Amino acid sequence: MEATSYRSHGCGELHLGHIGQLVRIAGWVRRVRDLGRFAFVDIRDRSGLLQLFVASDSPLYGEVRSLGREWVLQVEGIVRRRESPNPQLPTGEVEVEIQSLRVLNRAELPPFLIEDETDGQEELRLRYRYLDLRRPVMQARLAFRARMLSVMRSYLTERGFLEVETPMLIRSTPEGARDFLVPSRLKPGSFYALPQSPQLLKQLLMVAGCDRYFQVARCFRDEDYRGDRQAEFTQLDCELSFVSQDEILEIFGGLVRRVFREMVGVEIGEIPRISYQEAMQRYGSDKPDLRFSPAWEEVTAWAQGQGVPFWKEQRVFWMWIPRGKASRKQQEGWQALAREWGLSSLAVVQKEGEKLVSSLAKFFSLEALSLHEEGLGVWVAGKNLPAPGLGALRSAILRDVAVPPEKTWAILWVTDFPLFERDEEGHLTAAHHPFVHPHPEDTERLETDPLSVRALAYDLVINGYEIMSGSLRCHTPELQMRVFRALGLSEEQAREKFGFLLEALGYGAPPHGGCAFGVDRWVMLLTGGQSLRDVIAFPKTASGSDLMLGAPAPLDPVQTAEIARWLSSGEQTGSQSVDIFVE
Ligand code: AMO
Repeated sequence: MEATSYRSHGCGELHLGHIGQLVRIAGWVRRVRDLGRFAFVDIRDRSGLLQLFVASDSPLYGEVRSLGREWVLQVEGIVRRRESPNPQLPTGEVEVEIQSLRVLNRAELPPFLIEDETDGQEELRLRYRYLDLRRPVMQARLAFRARMLSVMRSYLTERGFLEVETPMLIRSTPEGARDFLVPSRLKPGSFYALPQSPQLLKQLLMVAGCDRYFQVARCFRDEDYRGDRQAEFTQLDCELSFVSQDEILEIFGGLVRRVFREMVGVEIGEIPRISYQEAMQRYGSDKPDLRFSPAWEEVTAWAQGQGVPFWKEQRVFWMWIPRGKASRKQQEGWQALAREWGLSSLAVVQKEGEKLVSSLAKFFSLEALSLHEEGLGVWVAGKNLPAPGLGALRSAILRDVAVPPEKTWAILWVTDFPLFERDEEGHLTAAHHPFVHPHPEDTERLETDPLSVRALAYDLVINGYEIMSGSLRCHTPELQMRVFRALGLSEEQAREKFGFLLEALGYGAPPHGGCAFGVDRWVMLLTGGQSLRDVIAFPKTASGSDLMLGAPAPLDPVQTAEIARWLSSGEQTGSQSVDIFVE
């Protein structure tokens, strides 16, 4: 053992093989248990927990008894077999008899228990995040995340991907959210935008001939927080040249298989594909949770013959949940949800034993439905079906009826997304982003019927979460310009906003495409976390605050004055300052 080193082993590393050895360890006091004739100290570091022992006749006994929770210790001692082993603990067969002890630092009494089962509410834990992260469950999540990134890096590096860093201070990269803006000191009146994703830069790397790129990329989107959304998050961002959609799905299907195998020991096999159209028709969602099999089935033709007045001229969808049962209150909840989503009606049939109950019994014979088993059927009608309301209802019904999942992992590709959609004001917008390659079979309709044009775009969906999204890109300036035009940008506006891209595409851009995985989301799913906050070291609250750092914060008076000067000089000079390169 080096005389100068703080420790010879991690706390969690000791086992029967170390019996009789003199070891030096360092860590935090979890607790001290004084049993009169002797005392135990539980000490932990990242590698695990270890029991220390001191007898009451030891000169160190008094000092050990006075140790406080979370004090930082260095201990030297002999490893010995425990009298009563703890099978729950990896080091549970051994303990270290203390021979010397050094308090490296004292600690205030922590405001909550540093245990997996803590008494700290989330707000308090975020305020003292460094203590929260000291809890073994959080340490395990951080370690899981680090290992997963390393598995992904190895997979991509083995396949010839180059890891390239792209800048944080850039121009707007539209991904459908607001930009975070950074004022430029040297160009008053001008702003940088933080990247919503490295989308355009990775495309430029393809023009540069990088061929295969990846980056563990920080993205910034000024949008509302949700359980699966943070304003600052991490993507595994990838781009490849000279590839087809099939090849991309093959390569990244391999990455998904590798991650599942190495991180959770699960063989997932081939990942099935469904088209966006089918996903909407059967599940009312472009990210269906296929752990559950009930799906919508269109019964419009049948429904039109049943004489149900509120089904007239509507499209009608039906879902059957074997053995399902719902209370009146739950059904009322679904009615309300259907109204919220603009659907015209929702009706239910319940079969219990031989008894059939439905408000539709007055319109047609329920026997004719030929329901052979017990369960619950739901009809939904609406003019504009299929629509996302079907998805929201499916989720609510599966939740309320407590339908058990049929598998742990349901993984699928969704392909053939539409290229455009209408926003709330009725304008055409890019369904994903404006650089996506239209489906070659549909490109001719870009000008005449843009909403019918499909994209060469795909998502990876795991258990109802969109974990990855990607597409092939427009690689000629002509095609890119046609898409911009369809989005209502004039040639001049397109050049103003994306001139650098159009110019680059004109210098020999290879056909290219790629994708980005939401790292935080994926880690959350694989570690069973409830929110992205569980797997991000220093996350923000739902209102965008960092409770530990106290960010965002007002500027101090000096900075405020500087900004005011900056703004007023910006008004005078606009962004007309000239770049001067001085070394
Ligand atoms: P997209 O915007 O779909 O695509 O993002 C890719 C993946 O990133 C994750 N994600 C998020 N995770 C946490 N918080 C957020 N606010 C958030 N937003 C997105 C999701 C999503 O599937 N440049 C394109 C990719 C490409 O075309 O190559 C892009 O960013 O898991």
